[in-house]
Amino acid sequence: MRVTDSISLLIAVAGTQVFAQTSTSTEAAAPTTSVTPEGPETGKLGNATIVTNNPIGVVYKATFPEKAWFAPAYPEGDNVKGDISAVAAPDGKGVVFTVKLSNLPKEGGPFPYHLHVLPATGGNCTTTLAHLDPFERGEATPCNKAALETCQTGDLSGKYGVVIPDAEGKFEATYTDLYSSTIEGLGSFFGNRSVVFHYPNKTRITCADFALAGGAVLPTGNSSLPVPTGVAPSSSADAPGATTTAPIAGAAAIGVKTGLMGAIFGAVAFALF
Ligand SMILES: *[C@@H]1O[C@H](CO)[C@@H](O)[C@H](O)[C@H]1NC(C)=O
Ligand SMILES: *[C@@H]1O[C@H](CO)[C@@H](O)[C@H](O)[C@H]1NC(C)=O
Ligand SMILES: *[C@@H]1O[C@H](CO)[C@@H](O)[C@H](O)[C@H]1NC(C)=O
Ligand SMILES: *[C@@H]1O[C@H](CO)[C@@H](O)[C@H](O)[C@H]1NC(C)=O
Ligand SMILES: *[C@@H]1O[C@H](CO)[C@@H](O)[C@H](O)[C@H]1NC(C)=O
Repeated sequence: MRVTDSISLLIAVAGTQVFAQTSTSTEAAAPTTSVTPEGPETGKLGNATIVTNNPIGVVYKATFPEKAWFAPAYPEGDNVKGDISAVAAPDGKGVVFTVKLSNLPKEGGPFPYHLHVLPATGGNCTTTLAHLDPFERGEATPCNKAALETCQTGDLSGKYGVVIPDAEGKFEATYTDLYSSTIEGLGSFFGNRSVVFHYPNKTRITCADFALAGGAVLPTGNSSLPVPTGVAPSSSADAPGATTTAPIAGAAAIGVKTGLMGAIFGAVAFALF
C-alpha cells in the first residue's frame, strides 16, 4: 500500500471529525491512534443539498468534440463520440442525466468523468479547473456511494459508476442526481460549465462544455428560492484554486460564512466525539 493510499484510508476512516478539525484549524492534529469509523466525509460547507425546483423542460447538453484533447488516446485522430444531456426530473427534484457514448478508448479504462468548474477555453481541458464541488468536500477521499450527499456534486462517475465500454466500445447510463442544478445562480448549476472524461490516472482525454439544448431558462416562479447571500463574487469564485462557488440551495449554507460553518462543525464534532 502506498503512503498516499494509507493517508486516504486514514482520512476516510476518521471521517467527519478529521475534516471538521482540519477545516477550522490547520494546527489541529489529526488523531493518529484509535481511529474509529465515524461515517463518510462531509464537505466544509456541509453535505450537498437536494435541489427541489429545477425548471421543467430546460435541457443542457455537452457533446464531445471530434478530436481528443489527449491525442495519444486516439492514434487515428478521432475521439469519444456522444454526449451527456441533462434535464430536470419530472417533479423538478434533481436532474436526470443521460450519458450516451461510443468509440470509447479500447484500452486504459474504466473511465471516470466529472462536472468541472469552468468551460474549456478553446477546447483546452486544462482550463476547466477542478471538479464542481460547491460544498468544498475535496476529492482525496473517494465518493461513498452509500451517502451520495457527501460526495462532490460534480463527481458523477463516483456517484453513479465509471464508464466501462461494452464489446462495441459503447456505454449508456441514465440516472437522477438530486444535488445538481439547472437553476442559474446556484453553486451546483452546471449549465455554464463542462464535463471532463478521464483515464483512471486523471489524465484528461476529452472534455465538452454544456450548452442550452432545449427549453427556456426562466425564473422558477418560486419566490421562496433562497436569495444568494454570502456568495462570493463570481469573478473570484471561479478563479484558479477555487473549485466552486458557494452553494445557496437549502438552509444549511444560507448567509453563513465558511469559517462559521467550519467552527460549528468543529464544535459539533468535538462535542460528539
Ligand atoms: C452528512 O451525511 C452523512 C451521511 O448521511 C451523515 O453521516 C453526516 O452526519 C452528514 N453531515 C452533516 C454535516 O450533515
Ligand atoms: C495515464 O494513462 C494513460 C493511459 O494508460 C497514459 O497514456 C498516460 O500517459 C497516463 N498519464 C500519466 C500522467 O501517467
Ligand atoms: C491549456 O491551458 C493551460 C492552463 O491555462 C495552459 O497552461 C496550456 O498551455 C494550454 N495548452 C494549450 C495547448 O493551449
Ligand atoms: C456559472 O454559473 C454559476 C451560477 O450561476 C456562477 O456562480 C458561475 O460564476 C458561472 N460560471 C461561469 C464560468 O460563468
Ligand atoms: C416554492 O417552494 C416551496 C418550498 O419548496 C413550496 O412550498 C411552494 O409551494 C413553491 N411555490 C411554487 C409557486 O412552486
